[in-house]
Amino acid sequence: MVRIVFRDDAGNAAEIEARAGQSLMGSAKAAGIAGIEAECGGSMVCATCQVYVAPDWFERLPPASAMEAEMVEYTRHPRPTSRLSCQIMVTPQLDGLEVTTPPSQR
Ligand code: FES
Repeated sequence: MVRIVFRDDAGNAAEIEARAGQSLMGSAKAAGIAGIEAECGGSMVCATCQVYVAPDWFERLPPASAMEAEMVEYTRHPRPTSRLSCQIMVTPQLDGLEVTTPPSQR
């Protein structure tokens, strides 16, 4: 299992055990993490699964596709380290990853 830490905008942290091969969004939904709406179920059309990746992790992730980068621009409250959690696949290399959920995806 891969440990992932989710923080909310108030700084509250929750550590989950994610399964390699599952998306970060799917892992968050399975663990009941608030703030990940994921209305499209991972089809990359809703942008309600945005997370802010901790800066020291951002450069270590595989880069966003052109489509994901474009969708991120349509999220509410985008930041330089914004990613769509449905496009991040959990791998053993992500053990200890830290992300923050936005104040509101709507
Ligand atoms: S779940 Fe809709 S874009 Fe990620």
